[in-house]
Amino acid sequence: MLVKVSLLVALANTLVSVVSGSPVAETNAQRMARGLPPNPPSQFARGVSPVWAAKRTEPSTRPSTCYPGKIEVRYDFDGHVAGYVRNWENGGISGLNFSGDPLEVKVCKTRSYTDRYDIIATNAVFKPPYYVGAGSGTVAGILATGDRSSVGFSNTPQTPPNAPPTLVNGNYYESAIWSYNSSTKELSPQWINPDGSKPSTVIAYDIRANDLFFVGDISQWNVSGSFASAVHFYLA
Ligand SMILES: *[C@@H]1O[C@H](CO)[C@@H](O)[C@H](O)[C@H]1NC(C)=O
Ligand SMILES: *[C@@H]1O[C@H](CO)[C@@H](O)[C@H](O)[C@H]1NC(C)=O
Ligand SMILES: *[C@@H]1O[C@H](CO)[C@@H](O)[C@H](O)[C@H]1NC(C)=O
Repeated sequence: MLVKVSLLVALANTLVSVVSGSPVAETNAQRMARGLPPNPPSQFARGVSPVWAAKRTEPSTRPSTCYPGKIEVRYDFDGHVAGYVRNWENGGISGLNFSGDPLEVKVCKTRSYTDRYDIIATNAVFKPPYYVGAGSGTVAGILATGDRSSVGFSNTPQTPPNAPPTLVNGNYYESAIWSYNSSTKELSPQWINPDGSKPSTVIAYDIRANDLFFVGDISQWNVSGSFASAVHFYLA
């Protein structure tokens, strides 16, 4: 009875807040094949989700706090849900799941800055990298108020938090751009300009192109004749 209760508690804890980076545990099936008894409940519970995620991401050396879920996209003007960030074989993540299951992610606190988070894809059907962030192509992107410049929302390699765009294989990226409010579940981006400044960073959604990206000034973006709506991301 006691064992059952502690297993339930351990499982519930795992569901509420997945702790990643635990060493890859041997499954009970593997242990039984070797004639060993099953894992104790806590170890079993810890192994459930992190092991599955660890196959797809960089191994980490010590545990960090992670929250699992999907990225829900809500319109700024009335808060209604537009959809979920997609998981698309051909095009990664930069739109909504008009067809198929959405992207599953875990939101993890970075080691060096406690107010910055990484978002890591855990069920990606596209090729790596598996961090969820911003990329500006071959030029280090600049966002500014009064300007219609933009940077892409895309899967990215891991880059350091609070750092200007990092050049990886010829393209500039920032992955650890997220802050996470655990009461509202909102995920808010902060692009860092090449000079280290922190511009207003608005998530924009162009429904006609099913395209998500970041702008510094949504009304300037609209002035150009291409229209997008400001949206917000929530972990759901
Ligand atoms: C998009 O994802 C949501 C949440 O999982 C799901 O309810 C919906 O059916 C998906 N949309 C499509 C078109 O598959
Ligand atoms: C989270 O959002 C709530 C409601 O907007 C706000 O009161 C609170 O200060 C936020 N927490 C953090 C850590 O930003
Ligand atoms: C930009 O255009 C979109 C689509 O027409 C509209 O929904 C949105 O309100 C506009 N936003 C601004 C700030 O002009």
